[in-house]
Amino acid sequence: MKVLVVGSGGREHALCWKIAQSKDVEEVVCAPGNAGVASVARTVAIQEDDTSGLLELAKAEHFGLIVIGPEGPLCNGLADEMRAAGLRVFGPGASGARLEGSKVFSKDLIDRHRIPTGAARMFGRSGLAKSYLDSCTAWPQVVKADGLAAGKGVYVCRDATEGRAAVDAVMEERRHGRAGDKILIEEFLEGEEASVFAVTDGRTILILEPVQDHKQVGDNDEGPNTGGMGVFSPVDTLNKRLHKQIEQRILIPSIHAMRQEGIDFRGVLFVGLMLTDSGPRVIEYNVRFGDPEIQALVRRLKSDIVPILVAAADGELEKIEPPEWDSRAVVGVVAAAGGYPGEYRKGDVIDGLDAIEDESVVVFHAGTKLEDGDIKTNGGRVLCVTALGQGRSEARELAYAAYDQIHWDGKFCRTDIGNRVRARYPVDDGINEY
Ligand code: AMP
Ligand code: GLY
Repeated sequence: MKVLVVGSGGREHALCWKIAQSKDVEEVVCAPGNAGVASVARTVAIQEDDTSGLLELAKAEHFGLIVIGPEGPLCNGLADEMRAAGLRVFGPGASGARLEGSKVFSKDLIDRHRIPTGAARMFGRSGLAKSYLDSCTAWPQVVKADGLAAGKGVYVCRDATEGRAAVDAVMEERRHGRAGDKILIEEFLEGEEASVFAVTDGRTILILEPVQDHKQVGDNDEGPNTGGMGVFSPVDTLNKRLHKQIEQRILIPSIHAMRQEGIDFRGVLFVGLMLTDSGPRVIEYNVRFGDPEIQALVRRLKSDIVPILVAAADGELEKIEPPEWDSRAVVGVVAAAGGYPGEYRKGDVIDGLDAIEDESVVVFHAGTKLEDGDIKTNGGRVLCVTALGQGRSEARELAYAAYDQIHWDGKFCRTDIGNRVRARYPVDDGINEY
């Protein structure tokens, strides 16, 4: 079959790379893709927000499967339009995508179905929000823009002054545009963060291996939040007991909640959790694979990914055997453009990619483009250098050695990917610093 992947980031490169290895697949097409995607798929210059262009392409090329990568087109209803045209799609329709597209909507659903989360209040007017903050005695409080804000719409505020400033930024200065029409103010949850990914057809769930992102731009989790600066898997903090708890208290109730609300969810539910002393609690839902989490996961997934995606799209996930995972560790280091997550430069020539010969290394492209025969930077997160190793320390060494072979002006990374460990959670291979 032919498969269409929609999107242009590292996530889509990783999906195309894995899908292209399937015995069921003759060709992978990616719209619009990037310079790296072009090595494993045919790229078509249709942007991810061009719903009618994508629909035309999908109808014309007789794809056996369409995988929609990013949240934007999912929230815009691209999956609904494609399904209405009789196409097989991995990715929720607009009603399911609201779980990510509106934090107010998802918090209401979570509360209605008594899924563990933080207590929160919704505000549609900045004055009331600020009066509420003035009356708070417990700090910090977390101010969240309702809509999509590229991972930047959450403000952890230490006191009322910070809280008022966050409300002004979101609701008055419109820092995230219409995403700030409404806000949530949520209690601060303490604990270790974790993410889980569950592929689902709306009835059955298939939980993927745990993977840990590094959200802040600087070492030791310092500096502003980003889309993600690096990953590792497996994650030793999620032991079997905790895994079971997350499945029973969070994932299964979330799927039930969607069914009861009439949401036909066929795709991946990505749940952001805080592991508090009183158990795991939801801090957010996303409705797509994490980026760069999926770059790590495809390196460890030994099974063919295509039957899994097809079964979820067809509502037949119960027929799928649990996938096989490589027991080795993976570490993925994001190489970013100087200035990211603030203003950054584009158009710098990237050198050294061809020099990487280590077979345990795969470099996934995110913000890159091919121009005049050169691969150039074209985004804040430019590449994700992944490596498999016998333990996490070996994977780290291999990933950083490959990262060092790549050059452009202003390139930077975090130097502690895979080393971030809390004393509360000792790890198994003894390589981590405390
Ligand atoms: P989100 O986009 O909702 O995942 O939030 C971004 C980050 O803000 C999370 O990864 C957490 O570090 C932090 N965060 C969000 N909600 C809370 C909360 N209720 N308590 C503590 N930290 C939070
Ligand atoms: N890496 C976090 C995300 O994809 O939202």
